[in-house]
Amino acid sequence: MVTDNLNETSYNNHDHHTRHPRLRLGVFGFGCVGQGLYHVLHETQGVKAEIKKICVKTKNKQRPLAEDLFTFNKEEILNNPDIDVVVELIDDAAAAFEIVKAALQNGKSVVTANKKMLAEHLEEIYQLQKKYNKAVLYEGAVCGSIPILRNLEEYYDNDLLNSIEGIFNGSTNFILTKVFEEKKNYLDALKQAQDLGFAESDPSLDVKGFDPKYKLVIAMAHTFGVFVTPEEVINIGIDKISDLDLKFARENNYTIKLIARAFKEGGKVFGFVAPQFIEATNPLASVRNEFNAVQVQGAFAEKQLFIGKGAGSYPTGSAVLSDISALSYDYAYEYKKRHQLSGLVYSNDLLVEAFVSFDADHAIKIQDFEQFESGYSALGKQYMAGLVKLEKLKEWSQTPGVGIILAPNAKFVSASKQTEKLQLA
Ligand code: HSE
Repeated sequence: MVTDNLNETSYNNHDHHTRHPRLRLGVFGFGCVGQGLYHVLHETQGVKAEIKKICVKTKNKQRPLAEDLFTFNKEEILNNPDIDVVVELIDDAAAAFEIVKAALQNGKSVVTANKKMLAEHLEEIYQLQKKYNKAVLYEGAVCGSIPILRNLEEYYDNDLLNSIEGIFNGSTNFILTKVFEEKKNYLDALKQAQDLGFAESDPSLDVKGFDPKYKLVIAMAHTFGVFVTPEEVINIGIDKISDLDLKFARENNYTIKLIARAFKEGGKVFGFVAPQFIEATNPLASVRNEFNAVQVQGAFAEKQLFIGKGAGSYPTGSAVLSDISALSYDYAYEYKKRHQLSGLVYSNDLLVEAFVSFDADHAIKIQDFEQFESGYSALGKQYMAGLVKLEKLKEWSQTPGVGIILAPNAKFVSASKQTEKLQLA
């Protein structure tokens, strides 16, 4: 039951007496995650759920299961009174949202792993859950097998979290690992990530940082209670990392990771995705291949780090299975931080410490930095480092020939603070 009021007694997440005898599932999609779910569901005795129908798009395709389990007609699931839960695992975000809406309207709960769809429609999905009194669970959408959302909702059930950050995309972490450790070339490593089923069907969503941004948008709702659209959040990818960047990293004993982060400061929430030089002593440096990592920091609990496989058929299938199991005892997200932290405002008004590389013909100037730290040129490229406005980094990230990597242990200064400092000086 989705409640808007924490005091309502109807909320019964922990009342195991209400566990349903056997959930009947209608699954949409039988790709990497759908097949993973099928496998893990059949390996467990503990979860009492059964797949009644699987709706797929492509006809005349050899599938490993009995033909009568499949349908091409979505109504056979959405209008089927013998199905309790819709498990949405398709690729197309717009079609997925229609399925979620129809399922809720028809009194069915939903499990989905579609991060793009969720990030684009999270506030609506929150409202629809309240309207129809049915749950939408989506642990598999954020960092694969890492159980972060339920932890944010239940364990970190207070307003004391200051930040959440980490490696939110398996494909790019796999690529960066192969490039750094095996000196593989970028395109070969990407091809391998695709072959292993880690990458999105449009892999630019991974390498340009959209996929981890969608996950960050979802995580921000459960960390800080803010609903932000993906368009508002700045994402800088790994697609413009150059050989010179790799050389610089190796010489300084750094690696490079694509980091998603969000933090609160002075009533504001900041969030963005960007590659960053990471020192060898940072625990994120040893998170390799398709593993993801999420580090949360609380005011008093300090830091905790969650590590686990962030992509792949079985790890993501396991997260989906866990949500199905949670539905069997009527679990629903309460979006607790919305009630605890009302008043936080999302902002991009931030200065970020970054290394910017560019060809000689780009007119990036020292004056573009709010605080310039250093600069040099090598192998026909120029480097400048210092504090830059996040919006400026966004502009440069969209300029061909300009590369951006955040400094190791980068400083972040909220722009209003910077103004205060300048006034004091
Ligand atoms: N393409 C995604 C990734 C899949 O590489 O992390 C898991 O969300």
